[in-house]
Amino acid sequence: MTAEKRSLHINRLERRWIIASAILLVIFMLAITVTSLAGGIAVPAPVARVNPQTVDKEGPFANPGLRELAPGKYEAYILSQIWSFNPREITVPAGSSVTFYVTSKDVQHGFHLDGTNINMQIVPGQVSRLTAKLDKPGEYNFICHEYCGLGHAAMFGKVIVTPK
Ligand code: CUA
Repeated sequence: MTAEKRSLHINRLERRWIIASAILLVIFMLAITVTSLAGGIAVPAPVARVNPQTVDKEGPFANPGLRELAPGKYEAYILSQIWSFNPREITVPAGSSVTFYVTSKDVQHGFHLDGTNINMQIVPGQVSRLTAKLDKPGEYNFICHEYCGLGHAAMFGKVIVTPK
């Protein structure tokens, strides 16, 4: 066998497409990196473990809702279950910073707050946390965006941001 026969025979056009695909991959990776940095994307990590069986009886989720830590600084504990969020509605003044702690007592849910970068997967046994700065008065819906059964489409609530 000659050296030529042992080498890979890549058609010229094929080679061009392989190079073009590799360049595209690099462009996509750069696009993801740049947009995640520019868009301030924070990957939600589980910040605590809870027992889904007792989460509504003990700990902060036994009494879910809004807590004011300081003027303009809030924590919102939201318990999700099929097919509702508790509480369904919270109200804060404009300019507030709200840290959402969300967990589930049954199946997997989702939590997306319209108009913000809050978008989390809600897994039973884990607490997901993200913070939003709510500057503009208005009503912001939060919805479950992970299919969780028959009532999934009815699983939503809202954050009301009142003018200062
Ligand atoms: Cu909860 Cu979909």
